[in-house]
Amino acid sequence: MLDLPRLLEKSKRLQWSTDDIDWEAPGADRVSPKQASDLSAFMADLYWIESIAAVVFDAMAQRDADPTRKAIFESFAVDETRHAEAERQLMVRWGILRKHERPVPNPNVRRLLATLERSASKVHPSVFSAIIPMTELVLDGALVKYLVRVVDDPICHRVFEGINADEARHLAMDFHMLEFYGREQSRAANALDLVRSFVRPSGLYAMFFGYLPMLARTRENIARMGLDLEEAAKAMRRYVELGERNPDIARHPTYALMRGYVNNVTQGNTRLGDLLVRVSDVVDGLSSRRAA
Ligand SMILES: [Fe+2]
Ligand SMILES: [Fe+2]
Repeated sequence: MLDLPRLLEKSKRLQWSTDDIDWEAPGADRVSPKQASDLSAFMADLYWIESIAAVVFDAMAQRDADPTRKAIFESFAVDETRHAEAERQLMVRWGILRKHERPVPNPNVRRLLATLERSASKVHPSVFSAIIPMTELVLDGALVKYLVRVVDDPICHRVFEGINADEARHLAMDFHMLEFYGREQSRAANALDLVRSFVRPSGLYAMFFGYLPMLARTRENIARMGLDLEEAAKAMRRYVELGERNPDIARHPTYALMRGYVNNVTQGNTRLGDLLVRVSDVVDGLSSRRAA
């Protein structure tokens, strides 16, 4: 059982600032222009995923009546905003971005952000509780570990030490909330009806036309960087295993949906994601043509 007051105390005590980091410290040249350009799309995805995480944790905070959980989520939203800024500063340091420039979001990210801004508060927190651990396990876990291994810049290591410490708290809370909603919803007579009403069309749109293609696209970026996809798959397996160990989690309706998709991806069947990338590109093309 997670000790929530203790987690809140830690979340407050362990706050840090991007100003604590000496962005001009030596070592930036250990990232060659070639490596910087190979990393740029991935770093941009990472930046936007952190920014999206901030919006989602903010929505979780707004929807939670429990004051301790609310305060924990509020601190997580601050953490994610800081992660995004720290990663942006790394991009500046490596010459990928100018001083105050933000990376350009890819079409999936743009669509997901727009949908979330409109409807994050309408999506039931239980749906987010299933999506968040997946993102945090894969992107913050496997991918960040990879980045630290291939990038020789000490400031990069310093940044991800701070980020990883924050993410350890996030994951503890993510698993707690997954179990909490799994337990709560498994009591409901018709869980799938419940999910349908929780997700709503806008939520589904965000999930399938924004989030899932984004994962697939990130996979492409990862492959381009030379990361062994085994490592990402391993982190995704951890998501699948959560339900194997915990029956409350296994009964969580949105988790069960996500788990099926993740299972497919880890078994090398990425066609669903590839298809969604194509569909979302087509939709994007159509809507920009209409706007023109
Ligand atoms: Fe983060
Ligand atoms: Fe996080």
